Amino acid sequence: MAKLVINNGCSLRGTVNISSAKNAILPIIAASLLSGEDCILNEIPYLEDVKVMGEVIQSMGASFEILNGERLRIRAENITNHEPVYELIRKMRASFLVMGPTLARFGRIKISLPGGCAIGTRPIDLHLKGFAAMGASITMGHGFIEAVAERLKGESIYLDFPSVGATENIMMAACLAEGTTTIENAAEEPEIVDLSNYLNNMGANIRGAGTDTIKIEGVKQLKGAAHTAIPDRIEAGTFMIAAAVAGGDVVIEGVVPEHLKPVTAKLKEMGVEVYEHERSIRVKSDGVVTPTDIKTMPYPGFPTDMQSQMMTAMCLARGTSIATETVFENRFMHINELKLMGAKIKVDGRSAIIEGCERLSGAKVKATDLRAGAALAIAGLCADGYTEISDIFHIDRGYVKFEEKLKNLGVNITRIDE
Ligand code: UD1
Repeated sequence: MAKLVINNGCSLRGTVNISSAKNAILPIIAASLLSGEDCILNEIPYLEDVKVMGEVIQSMGASFEILNGERLRIRAENITNHEPVYELIRKMRASFLVMGPTLARFGRIKISLPGGCAIGTRPIDLHLKGFAAMGASITMGHGFIEAVAERLKGESIYLDFPSVGATENIMMAACLAEGTTTIENAAEEPEIVDLSNYLNNMGANIRGAGTDTIKIEGVKQLKGAAHTAIPDRIEAGTFMIAAAVAGGDVVIEGVVPEHLKPVTAKLKEMGVEVYEHERSIRVKSDGVVTPTDIKTMPYPGFPTDMQSQMMTAMCLARGTSIATETVFENRFMHINELKLMGAKIKVDGRSAIIEGCERLSGAKVKATDLRAGAALAIAGLCADGYTEISDIFHIDRGYVKFEEKLKNLGVNITRIDE
């Protein structure tokens, strides 16, 4: 299994280009099942998760073709199988997003309960409640869910929690339902807005994405469309934090600064210089940061996907910080790994109390999930000696050319394939 080795941390200098957002592309690939025509996706981040989503829709009969390394053509004309392959659905939670489009267009689906990062129980009750409210008959057993509906019907759906996946799944299904669907307490993440823009280009009629109330007027069918997904705000935020704590001067290019407001605000509070331009953000830092507190929240709150990277920054702050995780109940697995590098962290329920230190020490650590892997790499940039990160397949699920981008910023980082 591959490992990343960082030899003595150093400051970062240069420009890093941000890829399209994994969390935008995955639902967009699923949404392409709503049409039988060609769908073209430009500048795709060809990550492990994107490959898995491709395999899921191929297992159903869709074609998924990489045109020139970064362009994707999807055609879901001949969907012959309404039972996506079990192993693929178990591999990645986002693959569950094929449920809404398949049920809406073909009237049935049999799908296994999803898998994914082990960061909590991650139920799918809100997705299913939405489909049931729209008239689907749902049965569960032996680890599978079967849903049938001749044609879904528009309904008013209130989500108990603004779940990103449930909002996306229900929004996609509602595009082909009869009548109007209203999703209240909907997630407001930028990826929801991107998906809604894509669906509207396909001929859907969605209003209100990006607010807590989304209205979808159902249509009979959708056509093909071309789309370029939004930049990856989590990848961008990861490089912002890396530059803040390792020190240096980095331009993060190809971002929507508005999407990064919660991270920018926190870094400024920690004494880091952050300059927002139209499509880029510059981070300048001497590597010395003051403590702060964060609480993860649905957008526009501080993103749970940035919690572990921010915790690394807190480990290096001059004082005590508190990180509270409210979105997932088990997203502190990186703490034991950070402790191996000399971090001083105590957990009290959903909060972690972090006593900052000047420097961490290189150690052998394990990426326990995708963002935890990135947090450990940032820790490696601020550590003496060798940091060896194993299980980096997690990092490959979500970061395009991670070590190459760090190398370009001056980091002594090597991938070792064993
Ligand atoms: C998406 C992101 C993930 C991010 C998360 C929260 C993608 C592909 N993944 O995941 O990177 O960390 O949003 O910003 O976009 N919940 C329920 N019932 C449900 C659905 C969710 O209780 O039916 C709970 C979950 O257990 C969790 C919380 O809601 O505690 C948030 O989950 P959700 O917003 O659905 O996250 P995902 O869509 O899985």
